Amino acid sequence: MTNQLSEKILKLKKEKNAIILAHLYQTPEIQEIADYVGDSYYLSKIARDCKEDLIIFCGVKFMGESAKILSPQKTIILPATNAGCPMADMACVEDLEEMIKLYPDAFKVCYINSSYEVKALCDVSVTSSSALDILKNVENKQILFLPDRNLGSYIAEFFPEKEFILWRGFCPTHHRITAEDIIKAKEEHPNVKVLSHPECSKEVRDLSDYIGSTSGIINYATECEDKEFIIATEEGVLHQLKKKNPDKKFYFPEVMVCPNMKKTSLQDVYDALDGKKEEVILDEEIRKKALTSLENMHKLKEMVLCGE
Ligand code: 13P
Ligand code: SF4
Repeated sequence: MTNQLSEKILKLKKEKNAIILAHLYQTPEIQEIADYVGDSYYLSKIARDCKEDLIIFCGVKFMGESAKILSPQKTIILPATNAGCPMADMACVEDLEEMIKLYPDAFKVCYINSSYEVKALCDVSVTSSSALDILKNVENKQILFLPDRNLGSYIAEFFPEKEFILWRGFCPTHHRITAEDIIKAKEEHPNVKVLSHPECSKEVRDLSDYIGSTSGIINYATECEDKEFIIATEEGVLHQLKKKNPDKKFYFPEVMVCPNMKKTSLQDVYDALDGKKEEVILDEEIRKKALTSLENMHKLKEMVLCGE
């Protein structure tokens, strides 16, 4: 049944000249029908640069919004129309305006996991895989970082000369995992490296051998000669970890599932292609303001890639 539906999706996708993008936390069947699977930064670049005018974005709300901000001429559809990000919802415009009044000189950096209204008030957006490179290119001393206090405190450790003002947001999925969970997993699997996402708490990060984005974790495990790893991020990454490393073992110390990332079904994707789902619509004035923060993200990250 699933296979039949997958085939119907691929056929309709061709007819509609569409592209399907899937975040690494999506279910295996969604990852399997996608043209591109990756982390937030990678998918945002693909959405910006692809030639197709219809993008089916299997992810959560801020991802669809970000694609629309960068490519307003394209039709962007989030198949799971009610898939949000609780962390993004922890930063609202009113509170941010208050913070800006308190810290008028701060450079405002928002994690891409934020609403487009919040992005419209910020100087630059970052993702977990691009944040360190981007911050290297920011000269301001005072940084207001939102909404993730964990990613913020992780970045701050690399820039002791800067003053970071951190929002109090966090990802409920990554926040679940505790230092005790990691210690227990290390006892059960001695000498096995811990790979964690920067959305984990400092206590968890301090027990980790590698900290990076979803694709960073997958690349590390693939390139490393070790055969076993303890993974501290959402379990969706297991699909690519296993595909790329069929001979390796991966242990998750806690159940880590993002319910919103699991909302996309194959039927939703089919319906999106079939014109039965609403496209992402943004207020044009706010979109234009939010564009600056995403353009700056790509510009400052690409400066590093070009070695400027
Ligand atoms: P990355 O894919 O950029 O690592 O981000 C993880 C995440 O939480 C997306 O919601
Ligand atoms: Fe948001 Fe966390 Fe889910 Fe990512 S994993 S979409 S940060 S709730």
